[in-house]
Amino acid sequence: MLKIHQKYSLRNNHTFNTDIVSDLFTEPASPEELVFALRHTSDKGLNRLLIGEGSNLLFTSSFHGLVIHPILTGIKSVDESGSEILVKAGAGVNWDDFVASCVKNNWFGVENLSLIPGSVGAAPVQNIGAYGVEVKDIIDYVEVLDTSSMNFSMMPNHACEFGYRDSIFKHGDPDRYIVTAVVFRLKKRFEPVLDYGNIKKVFISKKRQDANALRETIIGIRQSKLPDPMETGNAGSFFKNPVVDQSVFQQIEASWENVPHFPAGKDHIKIPAAWLIEHAGWKGKREGDVGTWPHQPLVIVNYGGASGQEIFGFSEKIRQSINETFGIYLEREVTIVS
Ligand code: EPU
Repeated sequence: MLKIHQKYSLRNNHTFNTDIVSDLFTEPASPEELVFALRHTSDKGLNRLLIGEGSNLLFTSSFHGLVIHPILTGIKSVDESGSEILVKAGAGVNWDDFVASCVKNNWFGVENLSLIPGSVGAAPVQNIGAYGVEVKDIIDYVEVLDTSSMNFSMMPNHACEFGYRDSIFKHGDPDRYIVTAVVFRLKKRFEPVLDYGNIKKVFISKKRQDANALRETIIGIRQSKLPDPMETGNAGSFFKNPVVDQSVFQQIEASWENVPHFPAGKDHIKIPAAWLIEHAGWKGKREGDVGTWPHQPLVIVNYGGASGQEIFGFSEKIRQSINETFGIYLEREVTIVS
């Protein structure tokens, strides 16, 4: 029988580590239990919130309803052909455990996504990406529960409408599809992606240039720049890197030197939000227990006792300041639950 907890503290179920309580909380461990939990919310007219490891969420108040944290586990190869292998992982598998398992089994292609916090099920939702690889590049299909019909189905990669930190799972009714498993198309041969930043330099300095060395390289870079959510509450990049019209970029370039930028489709330019935040004077800034991380100001951190409201308020001040300084309104990457 599925246990439903009452007045449940979510402190350990999200990475901003704020003190938040949900009226109800449950952890279905099978597709049947997941269906039971969902039926329970519709029968009782309860709000519901599906979460993974809560590494991309900011709660700004207590949650009135049922928080559902599915713990569907398992990693296995499901098909193999020529140079590729299909690997299926349950939505509740910890993302980095999945990456470690792939590297150990010589299933290649996922090394650059090492150490990203969160679960396998959350990965396609925001199309996680780092160091030149996005998860959309290696997803074959996503298994979902369609809550409108309560049927389980498969969504091929193209149907997921992946974009930069974006997918169909964030649009329309974001509650409609619940990811239950993801099937990845991985390679049997190690073909490292080394084009981002100083990855190549660090990688070739390793004793052996194998997948494990690439994983170590990525872990080293992440640990030097990003706060460990187990020690300092955070949800990774708080904002997306803005994509602006060429004309907006030219205006900024007229007033600022050496503005980093990357082409982003016809007449559009991507500017690192971290640069904008730093040059508007917010790098390493702290107000009470909220601040930007000194090594990567795109990450907003909770130094201990900050509330969700305080973190949200701080983030809005940054947004306003960037808008005043550069005429760019940053889009949040983190999901706000109010
Ligand atoms: N920069 C600064 N000041 C800083 C740090 C960075 O100006 O203090 C500028 C530099 O020009 C640097 C550029 O920002 O070259 C890019 O920085 P970085 O390589 O750290 O990457 P990012 O664009 O800030 C993105 C992802 C990260 C991901 C890294 C590495 C987004 C919103 N964020 O950050 O993802 O780890 O690339 O691939 O796209 C996350 O999504 O939570 C996340 C951490």
